[in-house]
Parts: sequence; C-alpha cells; structure tokens
Amino acid sequence: MLTIGLLGAGNIAERHAKAFSKLSDVRVKTVVDIDAVKARNIANILQAEVATELDKVLEDQEIDAIDICFPTFLHKETVIKAAKGKKHILCEKPIALSIDDAIEMYRVCKEHKVKLMIAQVCRFMPPYIRMKNLISDGTIGEIHSIRMTRAVDYPVHNGYSWYQDINKSGGPFLDFIIHDFDFLAWSFGKPTVVSSHQIHSNSMQGIFVHLKYEYGPFVRLEGIWSSKGNKHLHQRIEVDGQHGSAVFDSKGKYPFSVSSLNDYTELLKEEPEVDPFYEELKHFVDSILNNTEVLIKESEVLTALETALAARERAGLNIETRSGYAKRN
Ligand SMILES: NC(=O)c1ccc[n+]([C@@H]2O[C@H](COP(=O)([O-])OP(=O)(O)OC[C@H]3O[C@@H](n4cnc5c(N)ncnc54)[C@H](O)[C@@H]3O)[C@@H](O)[C@H]2O)c1
Repeated sequence: MLTIGLLGAGNIAERHAKAFSKLSDVRVKTVVDIDAVKARNIANILQAEVATELDKVLEDQEIDAIDICFPTFLHKETVIKAAKGKKHILCEKPIALSIDDAIEMYRVCKEHKVKLMIAQVCRFMPPYIRMKNLISDGTIGEIHSIRMTRAVDYPVHNGYSWYQDINKSGGPFLDFIIHDFDFLAWSFGKPTVVSSHQIHSNSMQGIFVHLKYEYGPFVRLEGIWSSKGNKHLHQRIEVDGQHGSAVFDSKGKYPFSVSSLNDYTELLKEEPEVDPFYEELKHFVDSILNNTEVLIKESEVLTALETALAARERAGLNIETRSGYAKRN
C-alpha cells in the first residue's frame, strides 16, 4: 500500500483524484491547496484530509509519495522540497520553465534517492502507443514525414489565470504542445532543425513548428488555443513511411487507420475503456512498489523541453491588426 499527498485541487487534480479512487494499493491521505474549499471538493472524492500548507504533507512520515498538480511555475521548488523530504514524486507536465531548473530537479531527486516521473499522459494513450510501435517496429518502413495537430479552447477559467502569464506557464509552446514534443523525443530523439512562428488574434493563439530529425522525418506541428469551438481536445498525427502511412485523428469515426502502399487499409476504432490518467498513475505507483524504472526517461523530458524552448525562442510573433495584416514583432 502506498500513501500519497495530492498537491493542487484544480482542473487536472480532479482527473487524478478520480483515477486514484479506482486504484488499489493506494491511499490518498491529504489534498493540499491554498484554496481550502477547492481542496475539500477534491478530498471528498478520495475521503482524504485537507491542508492549505505544503509542509503538512512533507513532514508527514506516513506519506510515501506526492503528486504535483500545482501550476507550472511552482513545479521546481515543490519537487526540490519534496525530494529533500524523501518523497517519491509524480509531477505534471511541463517539468519546468527552463532546462537548468529541470536538470536541477532530476539532480536533487537522484541525490535523495527518490523517483521523479513527469506526467506525460500521451504515453498512456493507446493511439500514441500504437503509433510509436508502428514507427519503431518498421511496419510502415522508414518514416519520411509527420503532421501533427493539437487544438483546444484556451485553458482560462473565470477571467485571469496563471496560464496567461508566460513567466508562469511558459505559454503554449511549453504548456500545450509539450505533449507532441514528448512523443517526438520518445520516437526520434533530438531534432537537428527547429523553426517556428506564432499568430495571435483576439480569439486565437496559433503556434506552428517545423522540425527535422537527423535520421528521421520532417515534422510539421501546429497548436491552436482558441476562444471557442474546440471544447473537446482535437489531437491528430499523420505518419508517412516508405511502405505506408498511419493516421490517428481523435475526431474521426475510425480514429486510427493504417494503409500500405498496395492500398490495403485497416481502420481501428478506439478501445473506449482506457483512462490514460488511470494508466499513468498506476505506472507511477507500480514503479515505486516494485522499484522499477519509470517509462518517461530524463533524457526524453529534457529533449522535449529543450525543443519547446528552442521553438518558442525562434517564433516571430505576428499579431492581427484591424486592417487585417499581421504586425510582426
Ligand atoms: N496532463 C495534462 O493533460 C494536463 C492538463 C491540464 C493541466 N496540466 C498541468 O497541470 C498543472 C496544473 O494545471 P491546472 O489546469 O490543474 O491548474 P489550475 O489552475 O486549475 O489548478 C492549480 C491549483 O493549484 C492551486 N495553487 C496555486 N498556488 C498554490 C500554492 N502556492 N499552494 C497551494 N496551492 C496552490 C490553485 O488554487 C489551484 O487549485 C499545470 O502544470 C498544467 O500544465 C496537465
């Protein structure tokens, strides 16, 4: 049995709490949030205690591990404090706002012999796992090109949110398409070319990235945060190889298809029962109980963050003006 402290009681913490409530071998003892009402709402899902101070959990000898669902700008200091308190750590993506911070976080966790797993949830989504396996096992041959899309409504709840402050969230390159950079780091390692641009209007933030991998594909990746119209996250990945192609489209009737060059097409519906958050938390819990390595490796996390930072740094900002032409900053 593993005893957990859940840090944060916002949007993603609710998904984690529901998944924890279905896991055996786990007890969430305490939910921490500066907002005691929010903490109580999440604690009720888990029959857990409530705290407004992080130290209450870090000093609790019964707690073996913590799950960090705080805003991104708090990840570094929370990981470092928790590692020094000898707690194993699951931390929401993105790991941190800079490479130096991320390296420091892994270093301190190693020094204190605690696990650090970054919650890159696509690793636990069947279509991404299937796509990764198709790429790795050579089913469609050498991969030439990939097109990826991620689109959703802007993640701002009730007016001001820390998401709007690039110094707190990292903006959409770090907060949003980090999922795609993670998939690419997992599949191909580090890109040799990164180029990008972004367009802002009153109702949309669009970010557009081109990548090239040394022994791998060209990639075109787009991320859209819009003010309305994408209530349900749209994820798409299209992979072209020497012998065929594969497509996952979360909006499709048959979300996953594989075609070979001789025109044979296999269409697959998604297994409805898989909750990737349940699988993610189970993997973390099992890795502690069985003392096994976590799937999401330090090198991949650092590569994904480095790629996101390079793309953000290179992106000229184009702002829509009333006359219709974009002004470039
Ligand atoms: N894996 C995913 O798909 C996914 C989806 C959404 C968010 N996230 C990540 O999860 C993290 C949290 O995002 P969210 O959408 O849940 O944010 P949120 O704003 O909904 O929730 C954050 C919570 O932290 C609390 N908080 C803030 N400062 C605090 C402090 N100093 N001490 C204690 N509590 C504090 C807030 O009161 C709030 O309840 C972010 O890093 C985000 O990028 C991941």
